[in-house]
Amino acid sequence: MTKHYIAAIDQGTTSSRCIIFDRDGRIVSVGQREHQQIFPRPGWVEHDATEIWTNVEQVVRDALEKGDVAPDDLAAVGITNQRETTVVWDRETGEPVHNAIVWQDTRTDGIIRDLAGGVGQERFRERCGLPLATYFSGPKLRWLLDEVPGLRERAERGEVLFGTMDTWLIWKLTGEHVTDVTNASRTMLMNLRTLEWDASILDAMGVPPAMLPEIRSSAEVYGEARGFLEGVPVASALGDQHAALFGQTCFDPGQVKGTYGTGTFLVLNTGTKPIMSTNGLLTTLGYKIGDQPAVYALEGAIAVTGSLVQWLRDNLGLISSAPEIETLARTVDDNGGCYVVPAFSGLFAPHWRSDARGVMAGLTGYVNKGHIARAVLEATAWQTREVVDAMNTDSGIPLTTLRVDGGMTADNLLMQILADVLDVEVVRPMVAETTCLGAAYAAGLAVGHWPDMETLRANWHRAAEWSPKMSADVRDREYHNWQKAVQRTLGWVE
Ligand code: G3P
Repeated sequence: MTKHYIAAIDQGTTSSRCIIFDRDGRIVSVGQREHQQIFPRPGWVEHDATEIWTNVEQVVRDALEKGDVAPDDLAAVGITNQRETTVVWDRETGEPVHNAIVWQDTRTDGIIRDLAGGVGQERFRERCGLPLATYFSGPKLRWLLDEVPGLRERAERGEVLFGTMDTWLIWKLTGEHVTDVTNASRTMLMNLRTLEWDASILDAMGVPPAMLPEIRSSAEVYGEARGFLEGVPVASALGDQHAALFGQTCFDPGQVKGTYGTGTFLVLNTGTKPIMSTNGLLTTLGYKIGDQPAVYALEGAIAVTGSLVQWLRDNLGLISSAPEIETLARTVDDNGGCYVVPAFSGLFAPHWRSDARGVMAGLTGYVNKGHIARAVLEATAWQTREVVDAMNTDSGIPLTTLRVDGGMTADNLLMQILADVLDVEVVRPMVAETTCLGAAYAAGLAVGHWPDMETLRANWHRAAEWSPKMSADVRDREYHNWQKAVQRTLGWVE
């Protein structure tokens, strides 16, 4: 019997979703649930992995029911997920030993300083493509091994397992303990060239190999689901940003996608060889489809963009819903001299400064809430500009078109500002759910639901585009002011 659908599970930072796609890559139905954000101390962010699993089960059931799709009619399930967030659980009971430590969490600052020691932040970059930063999983795992009583001994005996969210969900679904190259590339523990765990980094970080999952490609059958999805192949795993690159069908070297959500992540396909950044970008995996060669990427990760709008809503009460930011920002013609640099978790790309904290600069009595709203939107655009400048320099290929997706791309004013400050065309595709789409595409390829990547490329259609309108003079002046504001954030934490 031909099976008609693919289900993609997107386990994100604030919610878990399941989207069911038909053979043309069109959305049939969606299930979505938020989970609790746990903030035990300033700078600490945790999730309850058991709550997340319960939500994931529920959103899959919801999507199946809404789409009137039977589990039997699923050709495969694909997984995409928030990256770096770290879980350790008991192999026998399946109980997490601690809340998951989320990618935004900065508690490993001290571990990072120790690991950098006299050698510096770039100590492991040549092997894993990443600078030492609180963002990545390895140091989070080290923290758990140091702080949870008896955990290191249990890990050495193979009694507990480590995973990022993909691994946790695949283990829950199938009982297999695996991860894919994209997720593994965010742990700091994988060697970029061999695509295996790097013994020298494991040693330096103090991580027992017995607790690590097997690293596999992003598109292959890891196992068959048990329980209510009994028998459905679980056939893809990609970190969410890598899935979005794949869903945007950025299959050619030089193509770039930008996903605008809680944070913003720009990923540039660099082909089958890793390029080491000298400008503050991360070298990471793009994707690996079955036994085809791995495709590498350069990534600019920006920690705070959409979450700044949420902060304006929840902490300042300046707006009552996130989309209102556009209406408020349209009440003024410019930022009135105000610049916001949201360094809430330090600054990620291209600065990698955990000592930075946010600033609002250039305030005068003239500035009103409209100006602040505008400066908040501009903050997303200027942070993107810094990353694009770094990509242009690292790759030697100037960006001409940015393919965008994610919740914030519904904001037309922001999209225009983005085209203005980047001085390139910004394009949004018809199916904006590129993260889930990418996971569905990879799973579909793995089980032969789609024949090849050319077929996927033909599904990509542009829905909206924005061209630059800002004069070069204004752009240069504003960029200069933004950079001055960035300088004010550095060294805030002593
Ligand atoms: O690296 C973190 C990223 O994967 C999280 O993405 O969309 O869940 O905020 P998101």
